[in-house]
Amino acid sequence: MSSLSKRLSGKTILITGASSGIGRSTALEFARSSPDSLRLILAARRLDSLKTLASDIGTEVGNGVQCLPLQLDMSKHDDIVSAIQNLPAEWKNIDVLVNNAGLVKGVAKAPEINAADIDVMFATNVTGLITMTQEVMKIMTKRGESGQGDIIMIGSIAGREGYPGGSIYCATKAAVRTFTDALRRELIATRIRVMEIDPGQVETEFSLVRFGGDKDKADAVYKGVEPLTPDDIAEVIVFTAGRRENVVIADTLIFPNHQAAATVMHRKS
Ligand SMILES: NC(=O)c1ccc[n+]([C@@H]2O[C@H](COP(=O)([O-])OP(=O)(O)OC[C@H]3O[C@@H](n4cnc5c(N)ncnc54)[C@H](OP(=O)(O)O)[C@@H]3O)[C@@H](O)[C@H]2O)c1
Repeated sequence: MSSLSKRLSGKTILITGASSGIGRSTALEFARSSPDSLRLILAARRLDSLKTLASDIGTEVGNGVQCLPLQLDMSKHDDIVSAIQNLPAEWKNIDVLVNNAGLVKGVAKAPEINAADIDVMFATNVTGLITMTQEVMKIMTKRGESGQGDIIMIGSIAGREGYPGGSIYCATKAAVRTFTDALRRELIATRIRVMEIDPGQVETEFSLVRFGGDKDKADAVYKGVEPLTPDDIAEVIVFTAGRRENVVIADTLIFPNHQAAATVMHRKS
């Protein structure tokens, strides 16, 4: 058994946004990395996709990994609070939180940005992430002598630099980044690790959601470039959670080879 498998074995891991893309790949990667003993709480709005994922994990790695599909809207404060408080006792002791759920809507520029789009991006990417973190921290701070566990935020290159047509999404990811930095400082006397992973371009349903389901527009985003796959990010998330407890991979930026900044890409014509 690898060191990583040993360290992850027996843990309870909550992944938000597990129905698609990076979250789905992360669940599979955790299951493959520690197939003997793991509990995965798979959260998102699309319960059918979560059930399919749970069944795929069972087929691939067997019964050592137990899955709990959890239907949850991360834009609703009260739903997050009650979902965590009402977890069955054997699922409550969350060791690792992967705060991955998030979305972008549209490419509008100020002053034409739709108010509902602004609200849903902030409610999901920022307020929901903070609420979830606070609820799970209530569990983590009671563990061990001074608190123990992993909180992994999925930020974005968009949180480090604004780009035209992405101002609100960029602002939400910048908020995640600053909240994460402050939290790491607040928890300095605990064994809770606060870590952020910022992907560059990854091909998932992200662009499909951005363009309201318009596949042609979503496909155009990836034309002539080779984006990361969600598995590429999942591998880094699992690696980060699988380090020795005294090792904190605090901050990671991951690009595909063609990308050097949010809008600096080499496109083959
Ligand atoms: N793809 C990229 O290029 C890229 C780059 C940098 C960062 N990221 C970040 O990576 C994370 C994952 O995105 P992805 O690329 O994997 O996109 P994706 O395939 O669209 O997956 C997004 C996930 O978030 C969930 N989600 C969205 N709104 C939600 C809500 N209100 N409540 C609960 N879950 C919600 C979705 O589940 P349901 O629809 O079932 O609820 C889905 O599982 C996001 O935070 C995104 O900002 C992506």
